[in-house]
Amino acid sequence: MKVRFFIIVLLFTCFYSPIINPCSIVAFIGNVLCKVRLLTKELPRLEYRGYDSAGFACHDVVTNDIVVLKKPGKLDVLKELALKSPCDGYAAIGHTRWATHGGATEVNAHPHVSEDGKLVLVHNGVIENHYQIKQQLIKQGVQFRSETDTEVMTQLLAKCIEKAGDLKKGVLACVKQLKGACSCVALHKDFPDMLIVVRQRSPLCIGLAKDGMHVASDFLAFADKTDTVFFMPESSIAFVKAESINAFDYDGNALPIELKQVHLQPSAYEKLDHDHFMLKEIYEQRVAIERTVAYYNSLGDDLWDLLGLTKEQVENLKSMNLFGCGTSWHAARIGQFFFESIADLPTAVHLASEFRYMKFFAPKNSLFVAISQSGETADTLELIRYFKEQDAHVITLTNSPMSSMVRETDGHLLLKAGPEIAVASTKAFSTQLTGLYWLAHRIALQKGLIDELEMRQAEHDLCYAAQVLEKTIEQYKIDIISDAAYYAQFQRIMYLGRHVSYPFALEGALKLKEISYIFAQGYPAGELKHGSIALIDEHTPIVLFSHQDPIIYQKLISNAQEVKARKGHLVSFVFEGQDELIALSDKVYIIPRVAPLLEPLAMTGVMQFFAYQIALVLGRDIDKPRNLAKAVTVE
Ligand code: G6P
Repeated sequence: MKVRFFIIVLLFTCFYSPIINPCSIVAFIGNVLCKVRLLTKELPRLEYRGYDSAGFACHDVVTNDIVVLKKPGKLDVLKELALKSPCDGYAAIGHTRWATHGGATEVNAHPHVSEDGKLVLVHNGVIENHYQIKQQLIKQGVQFRSETDTEVMTQLLAKCIEKAGDLKKGVLACVKQLKGACSCVALHKDFPDMLIVVRQRSPLCIGLAKDGMHVASDFLAFADKTDTVFFMPESSIAFVKAESINAFDYDGNALPIELKQVHLQPSAYEKLDHDHFMLKEIYEQRVAIERTVAYYNSLGDDLWDLLGLTKEQVENLKSMNLFGCGTSWHAARIGQFFFESIADLPTAVHLASEFRYMKFFAPKNSLFVAISQSGETADTLELIRYFKEQDAHVITLTNSPMSSMVRETDGHLLLKAGPEIAVASTKAFSTQLTGLYWLAHRIALQKGLIDELEMRQAEHDLCYAAQVLEKTIEQYKIDIISDAAYYAQFQRIMYLGRHVSYPFALEGALKLKEISYIFAQGYPAGELKHGSIALIDEHTPIVLFSHQDPIIYQKLISNAQEVKARKGHLVSFVFEGQDELIALSDKVYIIPRVAPLLEPLAMTGVMQFFAYQIALVLGRDIDKPRNLAKAVTVE
């Protein structure tokens, strides 16, 4: 293919992880008909981002018109309709939606069509001032069909292009009026050889392939077609033709097309022989942890540059602040024990969605760590901005090197989990624990609290815990599979832990409820007697995560006895030699002993596999549980 545009080739090889927002966009313009590919290859790869409805539109080669097809529900519903339809084109757009404004109905599904029928658009994000713009457009006589913010953008863009009488001027006039996340791709009847692309907040990238240009929210969509990618910069527009990209900033200045080489093995985004991505990702954890440790070990003093810190700043650190949402918040809660025990740093943990309503007492010499698989979660991003306004030094621990969090923070430490596709987080969680444990040791080393030997021992301990994580799944696999039907019949299950195993119990409960829809609650074991014990009877199994510390273990035995005295069914994750707890339990998973504080990591595999098998018995859509999205970019 002859490429006729200005190229700065920036060779860059990374272990790519996806950037994720609810809703996915794919688009193509080139020299082959693309309906089948977009619907059967590219959209399915991104469907984990949102699956309330799906849509497709193309410049149809038969009718010479734009054809739009959309359906509520999963992509398969649309696929059936679209593959039967004779329409097809050399330029097309596709979308899966995670509903924000307006229910998951056909009329609210993307693509949206302007009133004059000329512009057809798919969008990813939330337009914050859609209400005001809608009122202005209504005054001008525009009639709306849907309840979505996306239709507002569609109508506005069509009007702006019409009014300007010039495509570029029209697009620029439109984007300057929009606030919030308004990344989109549009087809226009008058420009059949072109895709109109806007990137504002939500990511969009363009792949240059032999057959044409592939546009997507995530490189995963077209990773089998090309390694050569243009990641659109923030607040930019592009006019994409089969053989050219013209990109501009919002002032209309031409932007260089900086191409990056991104290598991703097909095994990273295919299920291979696993039934679900979640299962594949559970099994990938040992390797992901080892890869993460090896990467950190290779960093040497470059680490401090990556984190935007000088050695003096590290030596003077007085406290840590960890924050995130969902599973990442649980990792932060466990990480608190690492920084306090290993690096002697008082550590506060904040739930990103709640902290902004609290008074902030800016501590001096504190490191703020945003923990996020996707690097795109809106609540966490907003808290980053809030902390940065207070002059805090904020870094991110994330799986997504190209994410907003990497761009907006003062430094970053990457997880090397690889793409995590299943909505329920598995290997991101275990590599987050790895990152936090390793960083606590590295800071302790810099502060002179531990020596090199202890640092290497910590790395070894992480890799050993990773082996335990994997081996115990193999050991208990048959047991868990055969017991799953029994646990699947309960309406509620309680998860208990103490010390480091309490936040792990929160994660255990979250894993079960998000994929099985069984009500599960994580609770501090010691608090049971202060109220929740009222719930215990033969209909409420208790999952108890033990601890190696002899004092904490003794207390957990008392809690187990409280459960048994009330006819509770007790499932215990115990460590080798904890015979008293084994004797009290109805079901046990015995875990080999690991370094203190790495207990959650060692128990992670069996905990996740247990939840997975129960959800499987219940016939749940494990990779795409109802109502969820992989990362939530709305507050
Ligand atoms: C969503 C996902 C959770 C995830 C949370 C935080 O709620 O369903 O699995 O833990 O977002 O996501 P992040 O990408 O910031 O780790």
